[in-house]
Amino acid sequence: MGFEERTKKSKVIFEKAKKYLPGGVCYGSRYFEPYPLCIVKAKGSKVWDIDGNEYVDYWMDHSAAILGHNYEPVIEAVKEQLNNGPFFGYLNEEAVKWAEQVCKWFPSAEMVRPTNSGTEGNMYNIRLARAYTGRKKIGKFEGHWHGGYDALHKAVSYPFDKPASLGLTENQIKNTILLPFNDLDGVRERIKGEDLACMILEPVMGAGGFIPPENDFLKGLRELCDEKDILLIFDEVVTGFRFVGGAQKFYGVKPDLTTLGKTVGGQYFAGAGAICGRADVMEKIDHLKHPNFWERSFHGGTYTGNALVAKAGYIVMKELERRKDEIYPYLDKLGKRAREGLIDIFEKYGFQAYVTGIGSVFGIHFTRERPKDGLTVYRTKNLKLTTALHRFMLEHGVIYLSPSTAHFILSTAHTEEEIDTFLALVDKFIKEHKE
Ligand SMILES: Cc1ncc(COP(=O)(O)O)c(C=O)c1O
Repeated sequence: MGFEERTKKSKVIFEKAKKYLPGGVCYGSRYFEPYPLCIVKAKGSKVWDIDGNEYVDYWMDHSAAILGHNYEPVIEAVKEQLNNGPFFGYLNEEAVKWAEQVCKWFPSAEMVRPTNSGTEGNMYNIRLARAYTGRKKIGKFEGHWHGGYDALHKAVSYPFDKPASLGLTENQIKNTILLPFNDLDGVRERIKGEDLACMILEPVMGAGGFIPPENDFLKGLRELCDEKDILLIFDEVVTGFRFVGGAQKFYGVKPDLTTLGKTVGGQYFAGAGAICGRADVMEKIDHLKHPNFWERSFHGGTYTGNALVAKAGYIVMKELERRKDEIYPYLDKLGKRAREGLIDIFEKYGFQAYVTGIGSVFGIHFTRERPKDGLTVYRTKNLKLTTALHRFMLEHGVIYLSPSTAHFILSTAHTEEEIDTFLALVDKFIKEHKE
């Protein structure tokens, strides 16, 4: 049976969705051809669509679900919390336990505040950096993704000189200076004469397909920021729990502030995000130290630190800490198997492609240039082939986002057999598409 024959109900749902949701989806990035599948169930490494088809998932809830879909201890903890109430609108002990655990995990986190999303975390971190330094301008790396906050919604997609969204005023983005990833000299050059409050980046560039930092780039940035009294912000919304202690511990570079999201809220829940970092910077939020509102940086929000998300986040973080010696080597092993397997396939067929990633994430790039920054990821990308791979995988029981970026996210629920099946599919695809 063909793909469209097998996914008829998804098509019907999508047709209805288009009537009420712009583009037929809740988030544009979730659209793919011929229509987005309507997912009704998820468990471990798999998801099921409304027609009953099973897929091995390599998107894992936008990377949040490092312990797999529908992870039982989280579900149990959430049920327990629901008995007492998910949200009170007051200080709760779950939030305090959660905060302590965040500070235990990240070397740079002396204090933390919860946010409702990664986007919101970045918004508050930028504000905090401006409040602390008294400077307006910020450095943002080309191609890096930090969510939809105005000041960071610049040079997200290629070509970088186009507005990343309509509705942004010149004032909202004019203080955002664009910087090249993995090019320290380039960064130095572009910040000449600029008085920056902060530089923000994904330590491993997730947008574009998981491009790791090269040649001590992060260390170089740290030194540069120290030299110029610029705050360094790591957006660890994806990387925070993909390494023990986050990318900051893995690469041995302490940022001043960190933004978190996804996994920090227990893998599945809205209200998942955080800002954390140096106590002297975080204290700019503190109303006890700064009783006058005009002398502090605002942070808050109705659902921030609600007991349900705090409890779920705590359970996941505790589990990652308790089983770190088993979880992370396992994830690394899976990731390595995938990356090495892919390289072997491309070499075998003499096929022009690059493999990127680290730990539990990897990307396939059909490009002529080695992807090392925003430009090289996109400039010569073969979009037709990238999209064809996505469709091919869907037809063979593998799902991921997005069709235009072949990047893949693993969880502890994935198995070596699943990786081998994935590799066999890539092999078949390349064999069919080699000139
Ligand atoms: C690195 C990074 N920062 C920020 C965000 C935004 O987080 P959220 O979607 O929770 O607003 C994302 C989301 O994909 C992300 O990957």
